[in-house]
Amino acid sequence: MKTEHLNPEQLAKAAQLIQAGEVVAFPTDTVYGLGADARNEAAVQKIFTAKNRPADRALTILLAEQTAISQYAKNIPTAAEALIEQFWPGPLTIVLEAKEGLAPSVSAGLKTVGMRMPANQVALDFIQACGFPIAAPSANLSGRPSPTTAEHVLADLNGKIAAVIDGGETESGLESTVLDLSNPEQPLILRPGGVTRHEIEAVIQQKVAKKVDHPFKDTKEKHYEPTIPIYMVESDWAQALEQMQTEKIALLASEEIIQQYGEQVAESYSLGDRTAVQQANKVFFKAIRALEKSTATVILAEVYPVDETSEAYLNRLEKAANGKRI
Ligand code: TXA
Ligand code: MG
Repeated sequence: MKTEHLNPEQLAKAAQLIQAGEVVAFPTDTVYGLGADARNEAAVQKIFTAKNRPADRALTILLAEQTAISQYAKNIPTAAEALIEQFWPGPLTIVLEAKEGLAPSVSAGLKTVGMRMPANQVALDFIQACGFPIAAPSANLSGRPSPTTAEHVLADLNGKIAAVIDGGETESGLESTVLDLSNPEQPLILRPGGVTRHEIEAVIQQKVAKKVDHPFKDTKEKHYEPTIPIYMVESDWAQALEQMQTEKIALLASEEIIQQYGEQVAESYSLGDRTAVQQANKVFFKAIRALEKSTATVILAEVYPVDETSEAYLNRLEKAANGKRI
């Protein structure tokens, strides 16, 4: 299949492809999504096929307006309404009990569905033009870093999808926070992202738990696995460089570290100032894809101090490194 490279003025064409049961990638505020008609089982199946996604991994749906949530979810707690009011459109996916009407494989056997309204005008106009909810996981091959540009999408999916809408680089660069509210007594963060636990707790006046996962112990499902190994530098940088001296090293680190050690290594990719974690979030996936193509044979990545703002970055790094530390 030829993958069409569309611009944001060609949304009508993209919507026609979706209405005909095809899959189309498009920008959101977080990362590019791979969309299909969430009510059409055959179309949703094409997402799983194109991404090579395990059948048991549910898809989230993207909505163009806040009120659409009641069409697809039931028993909506007031906490969900308050969060929607505060954070939609934006990087918060809310998991609730699903109503009938969505293609079965959207929920992958669960009784719940995850929903989000993206803060990106191209995405909103596109969903609106389609006229129904769009099932949309990140538009990468399963196990690869999430795409933040149309070029990343094409690197993984060219020839496998009908089209990509090129809206330039995405704004935040990291996927949304996923919050499970299907049990309103026990809100649970399944994946950290742009909206933090404290921000959620402040709005719903309830304690929020965090799912504890050990990605490096999970051999079945690999996330964001790069084609060259990534190590999290937890000890001393000088010592880490010494230990890796037989490799062509790439630094993925703050300006401060690159200024100190950049001249000793083959490649460097700056995460920006160490105090500005948003910048690290924004470039993390892009940096991995760029360094894979460089001369480097190994990536040494900086572990930022643990706090609310660095949580999402550290979560993605841990997964991409598959737990490897030096
Ligand atoms: O920012 C984002 O969330 C991006 C953009 C495209 O919207 N989407 C995204 O989708 O990252 P995906 O499928 O790559 O990640 C969604 C995560 C997956 O880990 C999936 O297993 C989980 O949310 N998920 C989806 N539906 C769920 C459900 N009903 N219950 C529990 N987890 C769910
Ligand atoms: Mg994904």
